Amino acid sequence: MPYAAITGWGTALPHRILTNQDLEQMVETSDEWIVSRTGIRERHIVSGGESSTSLGAGAARAALAKAGLDAGELDLIVVATATPDDFLVSQACLIQAELGASGGAFDVGAACAGFVTALSVASQFVTGGTYKRVLVVGVDTLTRYIDYQDRGTCILFGDGAGAVVLEATEESRGLLSTVLGADGNGHKHLYVPGRTKYVANSARLVPESAAIFAEESPYMKMNGREVFKFAVQAMGDSAVEAVAKVGLSFDDIDMLIPHQANLRIIDAAARRLDLPREKVWVNIDRFGNTSAASVPIALAEAANAGALKEGANVVLVAFGAGLAWAAGVVRWGVAGVERHAAQASEPVAASATPV
Ligand code: COA
Repeated sequence: MPYAAITGWGTALPHRILTNQDLEQMVETSDEWIVSRTGIRERHIVSGGESSTSLGAGAARAALAKAGLDAGELDLIVVATATPDDFLVSQACLIQAELGASGGAFDVGAACAGFVTALSVASQFVTGGTYKRVLVVGVDTLTRYIDYQDRGTCILFGDGAGAVVLEATEESRGLLSTVLGADGNGHKHLYVPGRTKYVANSARLVPESAAIFAEESPYMKMNGREVFKFAVQAMGDSAVEAVAKVGLSFDDIDMLIPHQANLRIIDAAARRLDLPREKVWVNIDRFGNTSAASVPIALAEAANAGALKEGANVVLVAFGAGLAWAAGVVRWGVAGVERHAAQASEPVAASATPV
């Protein structure tokens, strides 16, 4: 049975940067509060013509370039997003059109756990032998649904995209284990009502529903304390399970790539797994919480910094709205992928210190 090696990776971020100092001018908050409670200093937010499509396509192009593939060589595109540009056409189809690719294209919805979930879905098309080359994109533009008068949420989120290319190999590379979980009863702790925009027409047919929808805000609602408690538990438990499933111990783990939601949540997970800080990739200070883009952006950064050597064991773990969570162990590298034979035998850089 083939494995699904990650042969390319890339990111795309909006041009506009929103700093904590900018937020100080908008809501009652301070740089000191935000840094000490979350670890975030700035985040990128979409403006102008930027969208989930433009960011997703940008990350995809970078990943394809790294893999040395043309978009036309892809068999399938799987996109993780909670913020598609269109609610009928999948985000994957919009990105496929931008890339000029063909083949299958569909979305996976698991909010901030979306990329790890999509990676597990996409990998199965490769390991099952159905497809040879699959693009997985994690993209979100959640700031479009943020109330910049709500200091409990507006400090946390940024926009961005990350992507990876999967290719078949006979060596044990790529996603080796998956843990998916959800507690649907927790949906009320983090959601975007957002139904207001659909009501205009249907309200003419069903007038009694108009009043209910009219009261709803279109912005994200979050119970931060509940999500925090859930996150610490879910990140730790699912990462432990994902590692146990491949018969490894945490001594065998070279890097943890956690969802970047709050530095305190990341630190709690790292303590639970008994991992030293240099084995935990952290970039939340520069990007905030980019939802489905968070894990692939961190993964691409770690790879570009030379922190992931051929054969390294990398734990991916994420949680988010649903409430849903996902974890997995990835064995890094391109061994066995013929086109990458030279890359696989390149000497490996020593572990970089995360930013
Ligand atoms: N600036 C200054 N003060 C703020 C603030 C801000 N941006 N946001 C909240 N506060 C205040 C609160 O009003 C509260 O004041 P009070 O004690 O007078 O009522 C106080 O700070 C503490 O609030 P609390 O909600 O307990 O803070 P916290 O330490 O839990 O931090 C979060 C709040 C949102 C940062 C934290 O709960 C969190 O990160 N939760 C997880 C959210 C998350 O990850 N969501 C995405 C999941 S994918």
